[in-house]
Amino acid sequence: MTDMITIALTKGRILKETLPLFADAGIEPLEDMEKSRKLIFPTSRDDVRFLLLRGVDVPTYVRYGAADMGVSGKDMLLEEGGTELYEPLDLQIAKCRLMTAGIPDQPVTAGRVRVATKFVNVAKDFYARQGVQVDVIKLYGAMELAPIMGLCDRIVDIVDTGNTLKANGLVPMEHIADVSSRLVVNKASLKMKHQKIEALISSLAAAVDARN
Ligand code: PRP
Repeated sequence: MTDMITIALTKGRILKETLPLFADAGIEPLEDMEKSRKLIFPTSRDDVRFLLLRGVDVPTYVRYGAADMGVSGKDMLLEEGGTELYEPLDLQIAKCRLMTAGIPDQPVTAGRVRVATKFVNVAKDFYARQGVQVDVIKLYGAMELAPIMGLCDRIVDIVDTGNTLKANGLVPMEHIADVSSRLVVNKASLKMKHQKIEALISSLAAAVDARN
């Protein structure tokens, strides 16, 4: 169906907060997305389907038009860096902060600062703006381990409650950006399926307003 709207959702914590918003906007998956092993889900609207992806892949699907819209953390969008996506709505869910962190009272000594993170572009950009020379080490998880094991001086990661940092003897240091989940839209889809997409954005905006 050419006027099908495909929406890429981020699995995990964000999904738990996303689905109730879409439900308030009248769109519900026909089966439990958290229990199923499927990746494409029909919804209560026969012209809307959901894809279930890792957060890092959502902007890619939307950028290429493999999905018309998506729900993506601002952290992923900042890392992706592109201005190619239309970002019409802050869903105000999955709120957290992108921060630097490290071992307390351990100032960075002379020379380049070693920074471990999965947000390589965010980290490079942040330290460049501070005028600090860094070597960025790409990691895919468990960033908190890296300073403890002497792999790096600082990490750049998302902080929510701060419990993970605390549990590993680290402290948050510099605030880089506030993060929440955003609705993103492929620009060509917006032109081609304008009415449907605008209507969807409006009903999601109303669902967000009703909650806040
Ligand atoms: C994120 C992040 C931290 C933790 C922060 O990991 O990488 O480890 O959450 O949350 P807190 O401040 O409430 O402790 P997540 O659980 O999302 O898994 P990930 O490593 O796959 O990103």
